[in-house]
Amino acid sequence: ALRPRALSGIQPTAGSFHLGNYLGAIRQYVALQETHDAFYMVVDLHAITVPQDPAELRANTRLAAAQLLAAGLDPERCTLFIQSHVPEHAQLGWVMNCLTGFGEASRMTQFKDKSAKQGADRATVGLFTYPVLQVADILLYQADAVPVGEDQRQHIELTRDLAERFNTRFGETFTIPAPHIVKEVAKIYDLQDPTIKMSKSASTPKGLVNLLDEPRVTAKKIKSAVTDTDTVIRFDPVEKPGISNLLTIYSTLTGATVAELEKEYEGKMYGALKTDLADVMVEFVTPFRTRTQEYLDDPETLDSVLAKGAEKARAVAAETLAAAYDRVGF
Ligand code: ADP
Ligand code: NA
Repeated sequence: ALRPRALSGIQPTAGSFHLGNYLGAIRQYVALQETHDAFYMVVDLHAITVPQDPAELRANTRLAAAQLLAAGLDPERCTLFIQSHVPEHAQLGWVMNCLTGFGEASRMTQFKDKSAKQGADRATVGLFTYPVLQVADILLYQADAVPVGEDQRQHIELTRDLAERFNTRFGETFTIPAPHIVKEVAKIYDLQDPTIKMSKSASTPKGLVNLLDEPRVTAKKIKSAVTDTDTVIRFDPVEKPGISNLLTIYSTLTGATVAELEKEYEGKMYGALKTDLADVMVEFVTPFRTRTQEYLDDPETLDSVLAKGAEKARAVAAETLAAAYDRVGF
């Protein structure tokens, strides 16, 4: 039987991905290659919904692709591409814009959050219709599953609504996707303030583990993570957010359960846990950095991987777009 199709996009953030991106998203992408016909893209069209520097965007997009490959995406087992290499995204995006109610788009909470950050008068129409482009991203590939975090649930609902609306008005065209919200997905917190999510924008430099940091810098950040004045190593996100965060990272990286770790560290000091986790992190990031650098040092190989990915993606996207255009009356 054919494998279910999965689609996910990741923003080309400035420089390195962080540990939260890896443990909360990229790791799932790698796993889904085995069970799904998976399409992954670096969403550079979405990246220009806020002001960008062209040279930086180009470099960050390539760097994001290099990191995804370094993390284990295998072009033989998935389709990895850059969104702007597949013009059908913008083309179907326009059709979807014309099917979306203004009020409906206005209810997207992420726009409210992001435009508030920008200053309301600075926010672009592109930022406003970002979720509608995301709808096109998903529907173009007739995706069955969309691996997303809880914060994206509303956008998946919009995708389902618009797919149903199009199908009803113009005839059966799009697969209705189901959110593939990975329940047990790890949420990683800032190492210095474990009550906030680790994030590129909100974390302090010492609280943020960049995957491309020098391994000794990463080890130091782990060892100076904020914990508590107690001494017991126990998973308790309310009373012990710092220790719990370290246990989550440790468990997700090694596959040991939190219960096993609690047992292993019974009667031991926080320092022992931090030292061991620092070693685990160094073991993970060292080859990750090397592999990323190898792709960056060999632009021909990276270009060729991305060109093949775009070609595979376009074969699917063009077919869907042709059907949609035909039904619309083009
Ligand atoms: P950031 O919040 O740093 O800007 P993004 O919003 O670009 O990161 O997120 C990219 C992906 O990484 C998303 O799938 C998001 O759910 C995941 N992610 C980001 N931060 C974390 C975190 N601290 N823990 C778990 N997953 C995260
Ligand atoms: Na996000």
